[in-house]
Amino acid sequence: MTSYPLTRLRRTRATAWSRALHREVLVTPADLIWPLFVAEGTGVEDPIGALPGVSRWSVDGIVARAKEAVALGIPCLALFPYTQPERRSADGGEALNPDNLMCRATRAIKDACGDAIGVLTDVALDPYTSHGQDGLIDGEGYVLNDATVEVLVGQSLNQAAAGADIIAPSDMMDGRIGAIRQALEDAGHINVQIMSYAAKYASAFYGPFRDAVGSRGLLKGDKKTYQMDPGNAEEALREVEMDLAEGADTVMVKPGLPYLDIAVRVKEAFGVPVFAYQVSGEYAMIEAAVAAGAADRDAMVLETLLSFKRAGCSGVLTYHAAHAARLLNG
Ligand code: PBG
Repeated sequence: MTSYPLTRLRRTRATAWSRALHREVLVTPADLIWPLFVAEGTGVEDPIGALPGVSRWSVDGIVARAKEAVALGIPCLALFPYTQPERRSADGGEALNPDNLMCRATRAIKDACGDAIGVLTDVALDPYTSHGQDGLIDGEGYVLNDATVEVLVGQSLNQAAAGADIIAPSDMMDGRIGAIRQALEDAGHINVQIMSYAAKYASAFYGPFRDAVGSRGLLKGDKKTYQMDPGNAEEALREVEMDLAEGADTVMVKPGLPYLDIAVRVKEAFGVPVFAYQVSGEYAMIEAAVAAGAADRDAMVLETLLSFKRAGCSGVLTYHAAHAARLLNG
């Protein structure tokens, strides 16, 4: 055992060059996935009240953000649509429309940027349903599993046909990864990846996101019959194990900071690429602290991102992606 005073752990901390030399993990722009909200129209920038500093952009604006991301060294975007109310329905059929907002935005990014950036598309029905749930519901409002999976397969094929590089199911239905993987293989999309929202919790941190996609006011009740109970960790490992067995390439833990323990355990148990989603409520908490004069935004953003890397994550979905990349690029 090392002991004081022959060992002084402060020795390597004494100067900036030494701290730099001994830093165990780093964050780079290449660790970041930037979630963007797509709106109908042209030339539209629609600020989201619950997410100060974040806007919905029409497709042309999304393409501009994609070019900005390429310039900043951000390798991937995650897209979410704000679906017009008249296009929402009980069965979320708009998710299958080859010309829906997601598909148009995906095609436009791929036309403009090609393989200079990846496009991750969210698979779940909540931006398209009139009831705000992620799947089809029965008379009691219960979200049906197998019937929903069939629609999610169609949604995934629709997104892949539009050029999506990573299909990211966030719905938490059982068996959807296997069904989607098989359908992608059969359709020849063998190199389209699946990033499973494998351990996604029924969290209080999603509020601002639901405003951003316009589902907050529609949602009755909660998502506890499909998203995980925040008290469970062992179950997260079972979720991850099943999704990997069904063909997920990478897995996600969501939310981020309150569930860092889950990220660590998943990484240790499976050794696969793990991503964390620093969700809307986490972003809003940082911005609220900054607005209250209680914290330094830049330091907080970089410290939280570093914590995900320290926990073993390959990358982080964060609404601060562009800001963080600017900071990291100096
Ligand atoms: C829905 C979905 C949600 C988020 C990503 N996909 C919200 C939910 O499950 O209600 C949340 C992301 C965030 O809060 O930033 N399928």
